[in-house]
Amino acid sequence: MYIKWYELATKAMGYEVIGKPAIKEFKDIIITGMGGSGIVGDVIYSLLYTRSRTPITVVKDFRMPGWVSKDSLVCVISYSGNTLETLSAALDAMNAGAEVCVVASGGKLLEFAISKGLTYVKVDQGLAPRAAFPLLLIATLKALEFYGINVHGNLERSLNVLKYTSEVDSVAKELAFFIFNSLPVILSSCRLYPIAMRFKNELNENSKIMAKVEVIPEWGHNDIVGWELPLDVIRAVVVYDGDPLMEFVARFLRDLKVPTYVFNLEGDDLLSKILYGVYVAGLASIYLAELRKVDPVVTRSIDRYKEFLNSRISINA
Ligand code: PA5
Repeated sequence: MYIKWYELATKAMGYEVIGKPAIKEFKDIIITGMGGSGIVGDVIYSLLYTRSRTPITVVKDFRMPGWVSKDSLVCVISYSGNTLETLSAALDAMNAGAEVCVVASGGKLLEFAISKGLTYVKVDQGLAPRAAFPLLLIATLKALEFYGINVHGNLERSLNVLKYTSEVDSVAKELAFFIFNSLPVILSSCRLYPIAMRFKNELNENSKIMAKVEVIPEWGHNDIVGWELPLDVIRAVVVYDGDPLMEFVARFLRDLKVPTYVFNLEGDDLLSKILYGVYVAGLASIYLAELRKVDPVVTRSIDRYKEFLNSRISINA
């Protein structure tokens, strides 16, 4: 699935947004979704952080914040369209009178969007949600553009980093070998946080291991002290795009003899760097799954959690 990302992304560039855009200025933007769908919100948050004059929030919860109103734009993302937290958040947003738009491949969410006349983008079915990342991201960017919110000027060019090459493959393998039999800690700057979080999620879901994320500069105000006597099982992956602060982090960890991998990002703008980082992280998690002899697709514990939720909560739109 990951090897086909560039082709999938190219196809997604042709997705159509269905709906009638609300002609108004929104007071705030919310992007909501869980796991492999929710990470799209983190990416967009990062891309808009210094540029947007409109506040933007990522929600990974059953509920919308109390301030959501008829002046909010709420973008709801669920690959399956059946994730309870996301369905519940969508209803909450509707009840607050917000403008709701939906990105899904099917399920109750898409049914809901169609029956309520909401704006939506339908993405291709048949992938693991996390492997549908380029589809979900492009569909969401298109939905935002539909409302006049241009997140990124040259999306098509940035997609080039999703081409599967022998270089990408060897970095992914190197990372997998580096992480094998360890508890990895992935450290990044704020703007590159989506890569670190996505890497963790991919290691959890595909490779079936635990992982930790730390974000700089906050790391320098608390977590840094915890490294003074590091456990043998810890290995550090430093997400690096030339930022001198991250050079300090790598040097600091190496001085403490912590095995440290500097994960050099390709790409000349923030979106390209994030796409590259997410792509390599995904492939690395698959190679690690192979090393650990586990099936990357099946996520039994998530199924168990979702079964519990379904037995307790029912969403009636
Ligand atoms: O990647 C995965 O399989 C999960 O993280 C899912 O994305 C998560 O459980 C939410 O499901 P969905 O993306 O279908 O809303």
